[in-house]
Amino acid sequence: MIREIVQVGDEVLRQKCEPVTRFDQELASLLDDMKETLKKAQGAGLAAPQVGVPLRAVIVDVPEGFFEFINPVFVWQKGEQTGTEGCLSVTGKCGKVRRPNKVKIIYYDRKGDRYSVVAHGWFARAICHELDHLDGILYIDKAENLRNEDD
Ligand code: CO
Repeated sequence: MIREIVQVGDEVLRQKCEPVTRFDQELASLLDDMKETLKKAQGAGLAAPQVGVPLRAVIVDVPEGFFEFINPVFVWQKGEQTGTEGCLSVTGKCGKVRRPNKVKIIYYDRKGDRYSVVAHGWFARAICHELDHLDGILYIDKAENLRNEDD
């Protein structure tokens, strides 16, 4: 089921999200809905608070694959990259953001199994953007030159 994407100004985007504690059908439904919602919006990533659910769960759709990260935590972050980002919760805008170039995270999948992944470039950027959402941080807080997408 496609869910409504919350827009900037909504309080849910600004809160620190709670860890997922139950790896149950409700979580599976949330993740399935997030995937469907992301596909329709043609985005690279979506965090649970963006559909109004303040839980630590994000999905990322990048050339490396489609990923579901539950309770993700950085192990390390290395290097630096600057690139343009947008956000499905801040429609019509984009801006340049400085991010680490390479990151490692540990996370759980929807079944509660623990994994880790090393990401670089665009994949690392997507992870950083989505993990920020879990702490109530939006890329517009960090962007150097926020502008309209069409400019
Ligand atoms: Co976003």
